[in-house]
Amino acid sequence: MYDLTVIIPTYKEEANIRNIVTEVDAVFKRNNLNGEILVVDDNSPDGTISIVNEIKKTRPNVNIIVRLVDHGLSQSVAEGFVQASSDILVVIDADLSHPPALIPVMYTEIMDGNDIVIGSRYMEGGGIKKWPLKRRVISLGATFLGRLLFPDVSDPVSGFFAVRKSVVAKAALKPRGYKILLEVLGKGTWEKDKEIPFEFVDREIGSSKLKLKTIVEYAQQVIDITLFSFLHHESAVWREWKRVFKFGLVGISGIVVNMGLLWYLTEFVGLYYLVSSLFAIELSILNNFIWNDLWTFKAGASHKLSSRLHRLISFHVVSAGGLVINMGILYLLTSVGGVYYLISNIIGILVGFGWNFMVNRRVTWTRK
Ligand code: GDD
Ligand code: MN
Repeated sequence: MYDLTVIIPTYKEEANIRNIVTEVDAVFKRNNLNGEILVVDDNSPDGTISIVNEIKKTRPNVNIIVRLVDHGLSQSVAEGFVQASSDILVVIDADLSHPPALIPVMYTEIMDGNDIVIGSRYMEGGGIKKWPLKRRVISLGATFLGRLLFPDVSDPVSGFFAVRKSVVAKAALKPRGYKILLEVLGKGTWEKDKEIPFEFVDREIGSSKLKLKTIVEYAQQVIDITLFSFLHHESAVWREWKRVFKFGLVGISGIVVNMGLLWYLTEFVGLYYLVSSLFAIELSILNNFIWNDLWTFKAGASHKLSSRLHRLISFHVVSAGGLVINMGILYLLTSVGGVYYLISNIIGILVGFGWNFMVNRRVTWTRK
């Protein structure tokens, strides 16, 4: 049994395969790791397979699967998950875009109790070298969509990650397209994840195989994972829905506080109703903050007072933005578009709610 298995999906990588395999193996040796290298190839018509077979002769920890059906990157990685002979799986590209030196770091993080460790291009210390603008834009779009499902993950479409086998062993993965990590996050069974930054270096040799079809498949995958989450309440995306639901309940409690105070201050304290409203709004924001901080996002125990103050200020700013969005939509739909004002207001409330949840989730209650 090996300590870990490094899965390398390949298609036509004769120019890179020897370098990546020997480099990963050197990293194993330097770090005293008993590692397996599993190349998963889609029957490349070039020299990839024969080169691996040759390397195998002197390195018994190197293996190759040659697939003849169901061609595809994600499918190949999923097959690697099944065939790997260890409990810790690392996925890395063959074209040296991912630094093998991080493999031991990922391994240690998994040993320390993380279920998934992601090499991130989009956190401090990470980056991308030599990508044309078009690819950057596509990647950022995909990342944005992915973050709607996994707001804590900065790079949910990274191709470089480690995962405990138990996360994917029983998962109903429907691998397709390029983004196997998103599938693992959406359908795997996991609690703790960790990201480590790395710099993605585009391939020197050969060409990328990303096509328009890849983008379409990605959109389908996001929808599929969303539907999956409704039926599988142990999934990470369902945990996110629970937060949306709690955030909504807290919002309703805020309306009660707001209305009650407006009424009380106006009727019994004798304040002018607009003055009452100022107090009512502020108190309802405070009410919502406390409930969200202690309940929806359970940030209470693990944070210092100073960071709570930060979150309180952040929540105020974001909520003010939500209010502007709500009223802006009300005004535009009704005064410009002629929509009945109560209908406009419902739309305004929903969009404002979406803004409040998503921005607060990413900014106020982010894990970093
Ligand atoms: N088995 C198999 N089958 N492997 C494939 C296939 C396939 O159909 N297509 C690509 N690969 C392998 C390549 O040989 C390489 O090792 C790796 O998958 C990545 O392929 P590239 O074509 O170099 O991908 P890329 O550079 O455009 O995409 C990278 O960036 C994405 C993040 O934006 C990859 O790292 C992706 O994994 C990553 O998600
Ligand atoms: Mn590449």
